[in-house]
Amino acid sequence: MAPLLDVAGVAKRFGAVTALSDGALRVGTGEIHALLGANGSGKSTLCKIIAGAVARDAGVLQLHGADAVLKHPRDAERLGVGLFYQELSLVPQLTVADNIFLGHERTAPLGFLSARRKRADVTALISRFAPVLGDGFSPDVPVARLAADQRQIVEILKVLSRKPKLIIFDEATAALDRRQVAIFFDVLRELRAEGVSSIFISHRMDEIFAVSDRITVMRNGVTVASFATADTDQDAVVHAMVGDAPLRERIEHPRPANAAPARITLTSGTSRRLHGVSLSVGAGEILGLGGLQGQGQSVLLQGLFGAAPFTNGTIAIDGKPVPVRSPAAAVRHGVAYVSGDRGRDAALQGRSIFENIANATLVREKRRVFWPRQLKPRFEEALKQLNTKYASLDAPIGSLSGGNQQKVFIARWLATGAKVLLLDDPAKGVDLGAKADFFSLARGLAAEGAGIVFYASDDAELLSVCDRILVFNSGRITAELTGSTLTSFHLTKAAYGEAA
Ligand SMILES: Nc1ncnc2c1ncn2[C@@H]1O[C@H](COP(=O)(O)OP(=O)(O)OP(=O)(O)O)[C@@H](O)[C@H]1O
Ligand SMILES: [Mg+2]
Repeated sequence: MAPLLDVAGVAKRFGAVTALSDGALRVGTGEIHALLGANGSGKSTLCKIIAGAVARDAGVLQLHGADAVLKHPRDAERLGVGLFYQELSLVPQLTVADNIFLGHERTAPLGFLSARRKRADVTALISRFAPVLGDGFSPDVPVARLAADQRQIVEILKVLSRKPKLIIFDEATAALDRRQVAIFFDVLRELRAEGVSSIFISHRMDEIFAVSDRITVMRNGVTVASFATADTDQDAVVHAMVGDAPLRERIEHPRPANAAPARITLTSGTSRRLHGVSLSVGAGEILGLGGLQGQGQSVLLQGLFGAAPFTNGTIAIDGKPVPVRSPAAAVRHGVAYVSGDRGRDAALQGRSIFENIANATLVREKRRVFWPRQLKPRFEEALKQLNTKYASLDAPIGSLSGGNQQKVFIARWLATGAKVLLLDDPAKGVDLGAKADFFSLARGLAAEGAGIVFYASDDAELLSVCDRILVFNSGRITAELTGSTLTSFHLTKAAYGEAA
């Protein structure tokens, strides 16, 4: 029997950039197929071609055994293909329900009854995620008011509501926590039982091995390998991904001196979702924030950065109390903030890579005008340290792959030379190799005297770089892990231990 999807020899160029030179992918009926590869290897481009959102320059694309003509996403939708966009496609001003139904009227001539049936289906879908939807989620709330993980769930619901036969999830789990991912995987498995196929893109190996039946690997625009998940292991997959380039493992480093002076201290930090949190980070230290997602870690970082100021409590930098009522004030005191939620907190969409990096430097150095010739070498250096794939600093930010955009937002802060770094799940969507480079860079900045506060939704990331981890539950610190308790076992136990 012909596979549901058979793609071969697909090529695509964007101007001078070759995004794909030999993309291939075969997906069977009722199969969960993982697609992986380094940032910029062509995964999103291949998926957009399959979903009719990007036109290919060459290659064969068959659906249900027949050549598919895809001139528009609608053509693919009619053939039963649905795409979850890595850069989310939601309209912030519209409600959750309106976003989910947006475009439905185009694809099917709906009578009143079937519209009502669709609403009932969506309500059923929402109830699947009900235990993990978090505060403030309802079908009638505008998407703009939702947190990153909630938006990601809306995008998932939006795709599922169309009942496709082949669903492509382009990094659909990047902003989700473990419990949310577990429910999402259950839904995928139920769909598989109904004969629905999915393509699942993720940079997290544990997820890929937990849920996929097959794994296809891309490198530099070429499909280089495909495995049955049961017959392969992580080493083989990583090897296919990176080729002969070595991958850094653990970040080894000398422990910071205990007597190091405090870079930043918070005393009794309080806000609506944070209850009297005190902590101190020394020069040279990387302090991790652990626990389930949404227990106050991001709220704390945004408070320290002045983006969501504390209602009570004091912040001291280098021993001096400072009022941090706005991000501009924080930046002037040498504080930097990197968020993995690039769409919402970070990107100046439609602007160049240069402008996206420069805006932080301008505030830090109180400049009103910039001299690109002076700044460019500095920015290029920061991007090079992270192995960023880009054509030129003048290219629009939207021309970069998702992971490479995230590297620009990291570089933005590296270029400011901050002494306190607040990292809010910064490596979301960044591939394994670049992640290791980024963490060793963070280690290097700490060694030069920076104090770093680091939240990651991925425990492995926390454990590989942190000197100490504070575990959060419901807006409070409930455990502190150091030395021999810096293990996955202790972290999991502390995170789940007192969770609501
Ligand atoms: N609209 C565009 N204009 C110019 N270049 C583009 C465009 N879209 C993608 N590219 C380039 O094509 C290459 C492949 O990008 P793609 O988004 O497919 O990568 P990816 O594998 O999805 O990476 P990531 O893991 O970072 O999401 C990258 O070099 C990217 O810069
Ligand atoms: Mg991508």
